[in-house]
Amino acid sequence: MTNERRVLVHSDKQALGASVAARFITKIIDVLDEQERADIAISGGSVTTLVLAAIAQSHAQGSVDWSRVHVWWVDERWVAADDADRNDVGAQDDFFGHISIPRANIHPMQSSDAGMTIDEAAAAYADELRSAARGDAVAPAFDITLLGVGPDGHTASLFPEFAQLQIRDRAVVPVHNSPKPPPDRLTLTFPVINASKRVWVILSGAEKASVLGLALAGASVDEVPVGGVQGRKRTVFFVDEDAARDVPENLIAATY
Ligand code: 6PG
Repeated sequence: MTNERRVLVHSDKQALGASVAARFITKIIDVLDEQERADIAISGGSVTTLVLAAIAQSHAQGSVDWSRVHVWWVDERWVAADDADRNDVGAQDDFFGHISIPRANIHPMQSSDAGMTIDEAAAAYADELRSAARGDAVAPAFDITLLGVGPDGHTASLFPEFAQLQIRDRAVVPVHNSPKPPPDRLTLTFPVINASKRVWVILSGAEKASVLGLALAGASVDEVPVGGVQGRKRTVFFVDEDAARDVPENLIAATY
């Protein structure tokens, strides 16, 4: 495996969304040519939402056999099931509602009104991941994981200086006092994210430029959590020009 890390720069946010969507569709079709099933993991946030909406609106998505695609969440906000703040509520409107995917292939995290504590919900999602894993793995090795990044360098719900950054022995953990509202969340941990074959990190806007520069320069994971993300085959940072301001020239891929 090459374990390559690269940065692909796009003119603006719309071009970024369209490009990641097109690549996603092509890659999923390729993956499904080679294996029976594809597992993908998605996070919340405006840029991943933009990408999911662009996938759903693309004519090419009709060529994907969605019945063989399973969708997992990288993180979820701990609110009621119908709360618009939930990542899966937005994804239903922008994505699932437009593609032919069986409901059983969608793997939401539990909600705060499901009758369990947040710790129980973390354990329940860990069980669900394990039941879909191969061999003795704790989770499926996601074929593609789509991540957004906050201006503070957080990704998923892994925030700077938070204890969750160091957790290696659990797949899913609760987060309290999140600096980004809402305060309570569930998140996958680094070992599960980094078992993904491909991690695609998507950033748009000047307010993300300095954390991207720091992450690529090797800042500590405690300081800039997204710097700790690494897919097993490939890690690609899809960015727009505003977010690319502090990226060293030698890391920018020459072609799209
Ligand atoms: C969430 C996230 C979070 C998000 C980033 C980027 O649910 O809040 O998963 O990690 O992806 O904060 O969000 P934006 O793209 O909206 O800046």
